[in-house]
Amino acid sequence: MADYVGAIDQGTTSTRFMIFDHEGREVGRHQVEHEQILPQAGWVEHDPLEIWQRTQEVITTAMSRQNLSASDLAAVGITNQRETTVVWNRRTGRPYYNAIVWQDTRTDRIAAALDRDGRGDVIRRKAGLPPATYFSGGKIQWILENVDGVREAAEKGDAIFGNTDAWVLWNLTGGRDGGLHITDVTNASRTMLMNLETLDWDDELLSFFNIPRAMLPEIRPSSDPNLYGMTKSGGPFHGEVALPASLGDQQAATVGQVCFAVGEAKNTYGTGNFLLLNTGNEVVRSKAGLITTVCYQFGDQDPVYALEGSIAVTGSAVQWLRDQLGIIRNAAESETLARSVKDNGGVYFVPAFSGLFAPYWQSDARGAILGLSRFNTAAHLARATLESICYQSKDVVEAAEKDSGVALDILKVDGGITANDLAMQMQADILGVPVSRPVVAETTALGAAYAAGLAVKYWNSVEELRAHWHEDRRWTPEWNDSQRDQGYKMWKKAVGRTMKWLEV
Ligand code: G3P
Repeated sequence: MADYVGAIDQGTTSTRFMIFDHEGREVGRHQVEHEQILPQAGWVEHDPLEIWQRTQEVITTAMSRQNLSASDLAAVGITNQRETTVVWNRRTGRPYYNAIVWQDTRTDRIAAALDRDGRGDVIRRKAGLPPATYFSGGKIQWILENVDGVREAAEKGDAIFGNTDAWVLWNLTGGRDGGLHITDVTNASRTMLMNLETLDWDDELLSFFNIPRAMLPEIRPSSDPNLYGMTKSGGPFHGEVALPASLGDQQAATVGQVCFAVGEAKNTYGTGNFLLLNTGNEVVRSKAGLITTVCYQFGDQDPVYALEGSIAVTGSAVQWLRDQLGIIRNAAESETLARSVKDNGGVYFVPAFSGLFAPYWQSDARGAILGLSRFNTAAHLARATLESICYQSKDVVEAAEKDSGVALDILKVDGGITANDLAMQMQADILGVPVSRPVVAETTALGAAYAAGLAVKYWNSVEELRAHWHEDRRWTPEWNDSQRDQGYKMWKKAVGRTMKWLEV
């Protein structure tokens, strides 16, 4: 057996390739960002060809830096930004349109229409999702309706759809020379098109969006001992490597955090925040505004489901302070600036840039900064931004507790903002429970590597993986109950002010 397992993590702002050893330790990595294309308010796009270019670049650089070749890898797993929609021509390999990113809200009319005539409830029941701009179905419909020639090509099976996992996999396995058109159950569960019980595309759901079945990828387990295929020797690995695993990045992080038992949860702090609570083999319906999603499916075992609290804007609010307002030069400065004041000075910031996701699901909410007085400075805004990340997480933790009937006693965290000590202390204060970060903070890539390694028996069981998890740092609450209650009350009031902003 080869010494290592690789993972491609195609994320919202960057793509990275990571290499892990048998103990789950990082051996090498390379990461590059790609352009965020913002053609108009509410629209967010990526160039799929740039994404494929970056994917090749990170693989070749990480492999050559470690002096590794294809035969050193037992397998490679793929993980990705979910919902982001690519439609391309299988004969030419050319995308018909830029990738429409999960944060994009151009499909708000499509989403709203679904709720006017009862179709929304069918989507909730069959797909576990509320009709929202977030998911892929409406984005595919938009491309079919707005880009010339796509519908005819889709009917013939020439124009095909995939999230970025499928796009990368198709390219790695040969592209227009016979590339495999495959996705996994976790990605498919984010489209509004897959039935959660049958794990297959559902004709009634497809009819709601008028999507031809011929354009959809085959749905496979997240970790498949039968292998999806092999990488082509002409590609970035310069040889054949087994491709047996793919899963959406938040599901991958849940696997990387070894949340394999019912009731185990993690919260990932990326562009957005995503809390996933493992509910086992049962499809649990949320009464509190969470969504139901496939967590993972290993081989021919029954799928494991999760309740998810998806938050659209967390890390991207810090980027907004840097790129649009220019009050910090880098993400780390958000901590220094926020620390320069002792509290938020009465300021609350609700970064509802893409509407509000869980638990509110309000597409027409928009961001607001409230409670300003002449006294306030950029430092208060920085502090309110970090607090907004933690308050939004509190909203989804509360919802998860309502749905499961179990109070959380610790929150496992990972992702970029967990390097921000102040933000993590705020999170413990705002939640009133300890927050714990593992040694390997790159849980998303690690989870994809685990799924790939399990498929080819590089690792033999999830118990073996559990032994790799070690706590690196823990934050314990310092606020008293009245500080916590008062702060949360003000947060809720601020959220209320952003609702239905676009309604006239
Ligand atoms: O659902 C969107 C999510 O998968 C994006 O994750 O880490 O790329 O912001 P991230």
